[in-house]
Amino acid sequence: MPTGTPPTPPRTDTTRAQPARVYDWLLGGKDNYPVDEAVGRRLPPQAKDAARQNRAFMHRATAWLADQGVDQFLDIGTGIPTEPNLHQIAQRVVPAARIVYVDNAPIVLRHAEALLVSSPEGTTEYVQADVRDPGGILRAARPRRPRLLTSRRLSLIALLHFLPDDQDPQGIVRELVDALPPGSALVLSHAASDLHSDLARQVTEEYARAGIRLGFRTRDEVARFFDGLDLVDPGLVTAPEWFRTEPAPAEEDSGIHAGVARVPSGGTA
Ligand SMILES: C[S@@+](CC[C@H](N)C(=O)[O-])C[C@H]1O[C@@H](n2cnc3c(N)ncnc32)[C@H](O)[C@@H]1O
Repeated sequence: MPTGTPPTPPRTDTTRAQPARVYDWLLGGKDNYPVDEAVGRRLPPQAKDAARQNRAFMHRATAWLADQGVDQFLDIGTGIPTEPNLHQIAQRVVPAARIVYVDNAPIVLRHAEALLVSSPEGTTEYVQADVRDPGGILRAARPRRPRLLTSRRLSLIALLHFLPDDQDPQGIVRELVDALPPGSALVLSHAASDLHSDLARQVTEEYARAGIRLGFRTRDEVARFFDGLDLVDPGLVTAPEWFRTEPAPAEEDSGIHAGVARVPSGGTA
């Protein structure tokens, strides 16, 4: 059931590559432009594997948390709808699950209707906002769906490497996590600077040529996003290694750090 009406989409700039559209091209999607495809084609071929592995991590982490009874999700940096989307996975397990999607890319807003087709029992909402305004995101969700304020899962999947250090990603995550009640979960994946570092450098340079600044990080730097939280098994690992019932195939050699953590009962303070 559609549960929100997206505002009129702003004009899409087709002269400059955008992260959401390059990612769509890497995943084999059709919602991208020649300028995005050009960036994708200049990236090392492993970038497509990384995008697929990252998306598979999102699927497993969402299903796992829904299995644990999590029924409220705040997903920032949602990306262009790509089936199955997060709400489809969560609502398969918990039909009444409530989801708030957030992205700052105009193209995601244009396609938001696909994100708003909720199960009849649940709700989905789309908020056009920038993660660099965490207070605004929390406020934007509030008047429309008050009950979503107590989101039990915050997902920042393949988002934070678009925030170099001078944009204070640690402070942003802290503000968002501090708004979560105890027992909530943070789900996070992040491109690595310390795995396949030559490829990481190449990717960073290609995006920079397209005017997109990246801040890939080491495992220790990514671990800092989880400070004060309890990482669930198997901890902070590569995306294909994160919880699965059988070992990750050897060829799934990934450049993505991924983890899920709980807000402890006393909160993060
Ligand atoms: C690589 S895609 C990841 C999509 C999805 N989370 C996934 O993992 O499949 C990154 C998304 O983050 C969004 N993004 C990048 N910077 C952002 C920002 N400052 N605020 C909100 N969204 C942002 C992009 O528009 C893009 O849709």
